[in-house]
Amino acid sequence: METWDAITSRRNVREFSDSPITPEHLDRILEAGRRSPSSQNWQPWDFIAVTQREQLAELSGVWRGAGHVAGSAATIALVGPQLDSEGHRARLSYDFGQATMSIMIAAADLGIGSCHSAVGDQERARQILGFPADKDCAYMISLGYPAARPLAPIKRPDRRPFDEVVHRGRW
Ligand SMILES: Cc1cc2nc3c(=O)[nH]c(=O)nc-3n(C[C@H](O)[C@H](O)[C@H](O)COP(=O)(O)O)c2cc1C
Repeated sequence: METWDAITSRRNVREFSDSPITPEHLDRILEAGRRSPSSQNWQPWDFIAVTQREQLAELSGVWRGAGHVAGSAATIALVGPQLDSEGHRARLSYDFGQATMSIMIAAADLGIGSCHSAVGDQERARQILGFPADKDCAYMISLGYPAARPLAPIKRPDRRPFDEVVHRGRW
């Protein structure tokens, strides 16, 4: 895909086909996350890639909005410092957002759908994923080929109108 096609095709996909993601493609998606920019290049993230069906099913229980994780081909858990640990809340959120979007665009480029999930139960996530006690799982990103409609550029996205959002020079 061209970059513009990947940007305009990405949408949140919550129903995935049974097709696996090849290890090469999963590594490329993870590499996109690793290359993301971050404040002062502190790279606060670790990524845990999960592909085992049983573990994915368990992970889907850590948040009420994580059901899509169970049927994903792979899910990437974004792990980092605890939000209030060092007063880095703003830059941490920003940096995880950037890594998330890089991962999602790299996936869309391969025709792979993705969806965010928050994490409600950190202890449960820690048991399933084994990350250290001084870290939290900030978000999860489920991945897989869409069960229905393959990714294709969306002509009328569900977004506020361009002229309402964009201000030129002044508000
Ligand atoms: C910070 C953040 C948290 C989100 N958490 C969840 C979630 O827990 N579960 C879920 O299914 N979708 C989650 N989403 C996905 C949003 O619902 C989605 O981005 C929004 O509905 C737009 O979807 P679209 O890009 O397909 O139009 C989250 C998105 C963001 C940016």
